[in-house]
Amino acid sequence: MRYLIGLDIGTTGVKGLVIDGAGRVVKRAFEGYPLENPRPGWAEQNPADWWRATVSVLRELLSQNGAGREIRAEDIAGIGLSGQMHSSVFLDASGEVVRPAILWCDVRTSDECRWITAAVGGRERLIELTCNPALEGFTAPKIIWLRDHEPENFKRVAKVLLPKDYIRYRMTGEMATEVSDAAGTLLFDVAGRRWSRDVLNALGLNEGMVPPYVESQDVCGRITREVADATGLLEGTPVVAGGADNTCGAVGAGIVKEGRVLTSIGSSGVVVAHTDRVMKDPLGRVHTFNHSVPERWYLMGVMLSAGMSFKWFRDALAASEKEVERLSGIDAYEILSREAAKVPAGSEGLIFLPYLTGERTPHADADARGVFFGLNLRHTKAHMARAVMEGVVFGLKDSLEIIKSTGIHVDEVRAIGGGAKSQVWRQIQADILGVDIVTLNIEEGPAFGAALLAGVGVGVYPNVIEAAENTIKAVTRVSPAQDRQEAYQGYYEIYKDLYVALKDNFKKLSRQVQAQ
Ligand code: XUL
Repeated sequence: MRYLIGLDIGTTGVKGLVIDGAGRVVKRAFEGYPLENPRPGWAEQNPADWWRATVSVLRELLSQNGAGREIRAEDIAGIGLSGQMHSSVFLDASGEVVRPAILWCDVRTSDECRWITAAVGGRERLIELTCNPALEGFTAPKIIWLRDHEPENFKRVAKVLLPKDYIRYRMTGEMATEVSDAAGTLLFDVAGRRWSRDVLNALGLNEGMVPPYVESQDVCGRITREVADATGLLEGTPVVAGGADNTCGAVGAGIVKEGRVLTSIGSSGVVVAHTDRVMKDPLGRVHTFNHSVPERWYLMGVMLSAGMSFKWFRDALAASEKEVERLSGIDAYEILSREAAKVPAGSEGLIFLPYLTGERTPHADADARGVFFGLNLRHTKAHMARAVMEGVVFGLKDSLEIIKSTGIHVDEVRAIGGGAKSQVWRQIQADILGVDIVTLNIEEGPAFGAALLAGVGVGVYPNVIEAAENTIKAVTRVSPAQDRQEAYQGYYEIYKDLYVALKDNFKKLSRQVQAQ
């Protein structure tokens, strides 16, 4: 039997999977690590924690004692890597980590974004060169921040790697990246699938600072003797390049053809649309990145607090539902969803803006904040729960509408994450987005896509599209109801107006809070 391993170096921990050639998951393991917030808006992690968790996950996948099938090291045909995008690992000339990694969700770099935009010759020129504007989460602003705020550390930096590529380096001794993660650095010519000399030069960065790149399915490295001893893997096991968590998530949901779109409601919310050609929003509101399918791209909108908004609601306002969960074992989210299902579409005039931690798409505004708008005496907790679910989907619709405005057609939306598990939330997605919402037989996220890429790299599958099409199938479908779809259209117009009306007040509020 030949098995494949997929590893996802995520923000909360490393998830590992073993799959067989038919795409069946035969073993899983997870190991968490902390996220440090040394100052408000900062988010850092220690790459050594990622490595410790990776070793522990690999040992568990290969252990003969844990739950699941026994997996022998000689049956592992290949390993694929995936991980959080954009986060910067700074290495010195001997490959040692210079300082903690600055993560994708860290927003310290607004000044650096402005500096980069000016250095490159303006926002339009930057979008022309990289397909994207400068955003706080991307990698290049973090490198410039280090140059300006920690010059001693900056002087020591010989190479900047992304999280999964650091894990590759530890596993194989090879420093390399691949197109889908390189795309999120703002140093990559996304249309040409190569490093952008123009951007590197404009920022005064040496090309040697970034690693060589390959396509996602290419083998780039083999397990070293030392790592084999530490994990139980065989020395020489091939490690395939893999991809960014969003492209591996897309591959793992079969988003490998034009017309297919992914919505994911996890902590953040993501809308991903596959494209056969380079397409971009001239205003830069959604990202254009390289897909893990060779010579293909995708457009993506990212909401910062999607499932996180519902979690906030549960933790802040649903203590009694949590108590029922403790006593009965029925999940508090499920109780809230059932109550929300009894409320009509539009929550009888209550609208929620899900900007609890600012917003990326479409506003790129770190100062935006959450709002309940339209509260009246009829409103109950169930109305508020439904309004939160609806507000999150209005946010997804913002991304979908921008994606459609570039000329991409949408045949089918495949939903994953917490928002796909709830029947109510799936129906709200269908009604607000105005399209069929499909769920899938496999919902393992990026680690599954990474395992499929590993399979392509070592010849288990002929190519990425066939790997996905042969393993991932639609299992449920909900369609929009015309009356609800029409009602939501009116509420969506108000939702959009609210941000415009409140924008200046969000800024004032932020200054007021900082002044205290
Ligand atoms: C994408 C992004 C996040 C991270 C999460 O641009 O910042 O989705 O990839 O790991």
